[in-house]
Amino acid sequence: MSVNWALPFEEKLIPPGYEGKVVPPSVYQAVHKVLTDNYKEYWESVAKELEWFKPWEKVLDDSRPPFYKWFVGGELNLSYLAVDRHAKSWRKNKAAIIWEGEPIEDGKPKEVRVLTYGDLYREVNRVAYMMRHVLGLKKGDTIAIYMPMVPELPIVMLAAARLGVIFTVIFSGFSAQALADRINDSKAKVLFTADGSWRRGKVVPLKEIADKALESTPSVQKVVVLRRIGNNVNMVSGRDYYFDELLKDVPQNVYVEPERVKSEDPLFILYTSGTTGKPKGIVHDTGGYATILHATMKYVFDVRDTDVYWCTADIGWITGHSYIVFGPLLEGVTEVMYEGAMDYPEPDRWAAIAERYGVTILYTSPTAIRMFMRYGESWVTKHNLRSVRIMHSVGEPINPEAFRWFLKVVNPNAVFGSTWWMTETGGIMISHAPGFLLVPMKPGTNGPPMPGVDADVLNDQGNPVKDRERGYLVIRKPWPGMPLTIWGDDERYVKTYWSKFQGVFYPGDFAVKDEDGYFWILGRADEVIKVAGHRLGTYELESALIQHKAVAEAAVVGIPDPVKGEVPVAMVVLKQGYHPSEELKRELNSWVREQVGPIASFADIKFVTKLPKTRSGKIMRRVIKAVLTNAPLGDLTTLEDETSVEEIKRAYEELRKEIS
Ligand code: PRX
Repeated sequence: MSVNWALPFEEKLIPPGYEGKVVPPSVYQAVHKVLTDNYKEYWESVAKELEWFKPWEKVLDDSRPPFYKWFVGGELNLSYLAVDRHAKSWRKNKAAIIWEGEPIEDGKPKEVRVLTYGDLYREVNRVAYMMRHVLGLKKGDTIAIYMPMVPELPIVMLAAARLGVIFTVIFSGFSAQALADRINDSKAKVLFTADGSWRRGKVVPLKEIADKALESTPSVQKVVVLRRIGNNVNMVSGRDYYFDELLKDVPQNVYVEPERVKSEDPLFILYTSGTTGKPKGIVHDTGGYATILHATMKYVFDVRDTDVYWCTADIGWITGHSYIVFGPLLEGVTEVMYEGAMDYPEPDRWAAIAERYGVTILYTSPTAIRMFMRYGESWVTKHNLRSVRIMHSVGEPINPEAFRWFLKVVNPNAVFGSTWWMTETGGIMISHAPGFLLVPMKPGTNGPPMPGVDADVLNDQGNPVKDRERGYLVIRKPWPGMPLTIWGDDERYVKTYWSKFQGVFYPGDFAVKDEDGYFWILGRADEVIKVAGHRLGTYELESALIQHKAVAEAAVVGIPDPVKGEVPVAMVVLKQGYHPSEELKRELNSWVREQVGPIASFADIKFVTKLPKTRSGKIMRRVIKAVLTNAPLGDLTTLEDETSVEEIKRAYEELRKEIS
């Protein structure tokens, strides 16, 4: 858990201009209670605002908990909802995506592409046609997508959704090994990738990485390669095809009828890290997912047709799936999509983009904000960002200082919140909701749960804690957008999320609730770490380390970092014959980056002769963390339940001696 700042429970902020519109928290709580008590009716009313090919027969099938099914009997198609509906309306020539590539020339972006809803409709249909008729894909097949942040990425996702083809997007910063693991688990038949992507002025050789992965992915029959960079890449005859070549003969105006997908049919799988084992393939449905996205786009982002919306996430993560691809397009908004690093080539790249397109809604991360803060406010204030009326952050807790700073330098008149949710929830669960009922802001809080979301904070015994007391966040009632399961592993789904407390969903976070009903998510209660908002399992990093020939044992913990929130530190026990050295540290660091990807960079690697363990052999990561952060040990006793206090103390002292 990384939060080590005071929580300003009592500080209430009302943005100028909102004085008459803000409601007291008690009013919000009363309305929330009515809607949440009647959650099925509430969610049904939201779902009715979408267009269904066939209405549902039952709002919620809860006959086999926790395998809930929403809007059973209903049929819809997300590609139809996100594209056709708008292309057939006055929005046909409205900009859907304003895309900016990373390279800069003569002080200006070298490439800007604007795709209207009409353009999107044409391209999605053509790619869907190519998928069906050239690649032979059909409903229920799975494909993997390893692509950069270019418009073809959402187009491929929408085309797959059109056919009912289940897709899994793998973040383009992941390594060959991580890519192969995800392809193999999902049994993807086709891989969509690119010749490369731009990152900080350098080419990331995506196809080269994919080729390495493809050495051990027997399910993949065909590989489609987008020419993003135009460099020469290895193309395997009979397996690899260029995207443009496959599309060459597809007519411009081809129409592929959207499949009538069942509400509970899977839309995508997204892999995410957990406490143990390999990454879990979280499976999302179609109808429930569409419903939570519609509710949150309306309430959290308050989108209107005049807005210019920008979510700075990468599509490889859930934030990009929900709030770059499906959410904003469902609502027919104009959105900005940017390919590269937010601070490249100068620290104000992001602010220049926001100013250039007149962004009105900005969704970003605490890590990005803290990075901007380090560069200094003049990089922000030289741009006019007063167009921004709503901002939200996501991915990790935001410290009050960063919150106050960002609000001041971007636009003190804006609404600013921190939306809590996760890969598993599909959409935002706890957040300020300016499009519904806005309550006063407090720097660092997540605000109250969304309507229909029944959140609580429990102690170890499963009883609600008092206000301002720390406990475990839980969600009591099912919600649309919840996972169907973990791909191929129902048992693990039940065990991970539904077993800690009987009958309620356990996300794995610590939280406190205050007297206004606001939640403050404090960080992970398990061994997941959030590095710059990216979710990494300590287990993944440890298993990469122990695959190195010099390593006998390894333990990884996250320690607080002023910019990235948390960073991983490794404790390594070497095999006989190997000796600690700076060179070995560097080697281990690059080894793990290669195995997992560049997001897996250790802040430090410490060589020790043994790791603190419980009697049953479990590594006491919390002891390691306490030593590294000089945390008081008293805090640990309840957390290390299998171990005696004496044992923990001894392990702590031993480790401290060794490290110092
Ligand atoms: O610990 C919480 C943190 O991110 C975790 C989920 O990570 P992921 O599945 O990668 O999804 C991130 C983007 C939705 C949560 O368990 N988290 C996410 N948003 C917040 C947050 N912690 C505090 N405040 C937030 N706004």
